[in-house]
Amino acid sequence: MEKAEMPLFGSAKLELTRACNHRCCYCYNDVRDGGNKCAEENCFLSPEEKRRNISTILEKLIELHIQKVNITGGEPAMDKSLLFHTLEDTKRLKIQCSLNTNLSLFTADEISRLCDSGLDSILISFPSHDPKTYDAMTRNKTSFKKVIENLNSVQTAMIPNIINMVVSNLNKNQVYETGGYLATNFGIKRFAATPIVPVIENQLSESLTREEIIKVFDNLLRLKDKHGIKVSTLRPIPWCIFEEPKRYSDFLKGCAAGRSEAYIGIDGNVSTCSSIPHVSGNLFKEDLSQILIRIAGEYDDKRIIPDECLPCPEASRCRAGCNAESQLVNKEKRSKQPYFFAPLKDKVFSPKKIKINFLGSGRIIFDGDSEILEGSSSQEYLFSAFGNRTPINETERAILGTLYQRHFLTGIPLTQIVKDYSLDAHRLDRFLNRLASKEIIRYQESK
Ligand SMILES: C[S@@+](CC[C@H](N)C(=O)[O-])C[C@H]1O[C@@H](n2cnc3c(N)ncnc32)[C@H](O)[C@@H]1O
Ligand code: SF4
Ligand code: SF4
Repeated sequence: MEKAEMPLFGSAKLELTRACNHRCCYCYNDVRDGGNKCAEENCFLSPEEKRRNISTILEKLIELHIQKVNITGGEPAMDKSLLFHTLEDTKRLKIQCSLNTNLSLFTADEISRLCDSGLDSILISFPSHDPKTYDAMTRNKTSFKKVIENLNSVQTAMIPNIINMVVSNLNKNQVYETGGYLATNFGIKRFAATPIVPVIENQLSESLTREEIIKVFDNLLRLKDKHGIKVSTLRPIPWCIFEEPKRYSDFLKGCAAGRSEAYIGIDGNVSTCSSIPHVSGNLFKEDLSQILIRIAGEYDDKRIIPDECLPCPEASRCRAGCNAESQLVNKEKRSKQPYFFAPLKDKVFSPKKIKINFLGSGRIIFDGDSEILEGSSSQEYLFSAFGNRTPINETERAILGTLYQRHFLTGIPLTQIVKDYSLDAHRLDRFLNRLASKEIIRYQESK
């Protein structure tokens, strides 16, 4: 297939194992596996076969120019030898790599080894600052202390990290305290609170109400104000849940199903999303590009955005919220999400007509799904967010990578980066204005 025809997939989640030392009450794997099987390894491949599968999967991703991988599980640290093998392989293939972990199984030395292996970032599950709630939610009585020790090691090793708190009925009143505890005691810079995505009916009773979800996000905004940290959420929510969506722009993202991310098991099974267990194909039996095209077709906007959302000016970006949740609640893929309220009257981010001074004291915002994709020639790339795309050249691609790492993640001012890298300030400003006019990046004035 020509690269230009490839659907938008710019990244993949790679499930190294289903085994885990925790049995989180909210976990999509644990409940999907029958309530207690997440603690067991349910993959019958030998260690050599697993390593071989990982290498083959990564090579297939590279063939399709998918250069971003998120290693997940189960708990990837249940098989450290496989985890470090995977990290080495991603570096060999120059794949950008992040890791999801509950952080309880690493030693301090292993955390520095993660850093030395070139891991780009780490997403840490942390359901509560309160040890009793943590133990009850993870159904593990020994991890809390170890995770706290390891949070210090992650900070010392300076691995860019996000702490993710899945919010259910059990911890819904602890978002502000948990974020504050992490910012004050560990200096964390990024905190996500993710209202639970139920994957089986038993979990529906754990879901939050509309008011509770809004309260989670209000608490995140308070944390941002008080501690100056970046806040986000990892699941899509219908934008119309908010009376003033713009105020909640940190949390506006679209459903990625069929659009930007594939979920791949170590056995080669490919699904659209971790919360939608339907397997669309196996990359050891069929060409990966064909499977991705199929997934993109199965989750095309026409197949998931319901009639009620069609008048909405943000329908193609919100995509009606989380499709996994709509499917579970309504037993239908193209259906109104439980938190749907009414079509928005106006666009939330209207294209900027005015020129922005990017070299001021504010900050560029790369939205959740921003990614760089390969275009139709090896020198051409597309920068994409919310399904909007624009061609960029190789230099611009390198500049965006630097801005993401050094400005967006680390907070170094643009003016400093211009100096450090001897960039042409006017050209940079023009380039960033072009991306802003296409609604691909945003600019946030400093307060
Ligand atoms: C399944 S875990 C696997 C990696 C690792 N064991 C961990 O806990 O981070 C991947 C991510 O999904 C989140 N998660 C699990 N179940 C979820 C659910 N039902 N709704 C929303 N997020 C969920 C976890 O908190 C974690 O950040
Ligand atoms: S630690 Fe991760 S994989 Fe394990 S049960 Fe919890 S959320 Fe699921
Ligand atoms: S009307 Fe539909 S597309 Fe528009 S914000 Fe609500 S859920 Fe999203």
